[in-house]
Amino acid sequence: MVIITDIRSSNAAYAAKGRHGLVCVFAGATAGIGAATLREMVGMLRSSTFYVLGRDPHRYQDKLDELKKIDTTNKIVFVETQIALIAGVDQACSIIREDADKVDMICVSPGGMPFQGAVYTEEGLESCFAVSYYSRLRLISNLLPLLHKSPTPRILSILNGTKEKKINEADIGLKKHWGIAAVVNHTTMCTSLAFDHLASTASHNHLTFLHVTPGLVSTDTPRTGRPSKSNGLFWWALISTFQIVSGWIITCFGMSAKESGERHAYELTNDNFVAGSWRVNRLNEIVPDNQVLIDYREGGWGDKIWEFTVGVWEKALTKDVQS
Ligand SMILES: NC(=O)c1ccc[n+]([C@@H]2O[C@H](COP(=O)([O-])OP(=O)(O)OC[C@H]3O[C@@H](n4cnc5c(N)ncnc54)[C@H](OP(=O)(O)O)[C@@H]3O)[C@@H](O)[C@H]2O)c1
Repeated sequence: MVIITDIRSSNAAYAAKGRHGLVCVFAGATAGIGAATLREMVGMLRSSTFYVLGRDPHRYQDKLDELKKIDTTNKIVFVETQIALIAGVDQACSIIREDADKVDMICVSPGGMPFQGAVYTEEGLESCFAVSYYSRLRLISNLLPLLHKSPTPRILSILNGTKEKKINEADIGLKKHWGIAAVVNHTTMCTSLAFDHLASTASHNHLTFLHVTPGLVSTDTPRTGRPSKSNGLFWWALISTFQIVSGWIITCFGMSAKESGERHAYELTNDNFVAGSWRVNRLNEIVPDNQVLIDYREGGWGDKIWEFTVGVWEKALTKDVQS
């Protein structure tokens, strides 16, 4: 466990070095944990560029103005896009590629609990699966050439690392067996295996991939998606109750978003996180992989998940995912 005073000392020491000229890409940073992490990072860098991907520039304007005041030497670029769409990620990446000559850090955290049930994007992807996994990996994959131009590239996905569980190997994309727990388990395992796959490729061996679990953090995430009565009144009542109770638990016992942001800024900057693919717990420790993840990796599932993911992207772009 890294205590918060050590996190703050490390972040302050990093900030005191006056690092400048870095390029950072954030998705899911318009609210919650991502927003808190972005805020910390903007305070720790000078003359650096932050690309913030988001779907609503008007709703974000006040936060953008606040960020610009934290350090006026930094440039904050809001990139308007639908991150749930693979085409939306591609569009954002072309803007970044035209503008930047490298990327030093990527921090991805879009998503939340899918209490509303399965909702499909116009590309045919279930939206929670898309923003938690397919879109995040598409963003990282598209930006690999720019990450290679950084001396210390680092990639952070804030999701559920360390909590890998068995998945349904016959239905990785959950076309037939979608459920709230299933989507959490599948996006978690897919992220860890995809990161392992990317890190094991020789040309990527100086990149640091971190799949972290934030633990309970007091954000709006349990309250955002609403269950629908069209799935039956019993289901609606059950999920609504779970949503209210989890909201209370997170508010009463969750870490503050500010502390979570400080902890993720530490993961983005501290030298303890060397090149490779790592699972990190809520208190910033690298945790040895559990046996389920080891078994999947040794069974060649890193390559299989990557191949599956590339296939899903291709179908999404031709809007043919249901086939
Ligand atoms: N908070 C916790 O206790 C907790 C615990 C474990 C894991 N996590 C995971 O950590 C990640 C971040 O959680 P959080 O608490 O920061 O969530 P949050 O406060 O609800 O923020 C979610 C972010 O994701 C974006 N987003 C959500 N759905 C989207 C969609 N369909 N299309 C585009 N953008 C979308 C939101 O954008 P808008 O501003 O446009 O809505 C926002 O920037 C999530 O994956 C969550 O599952 C959280």
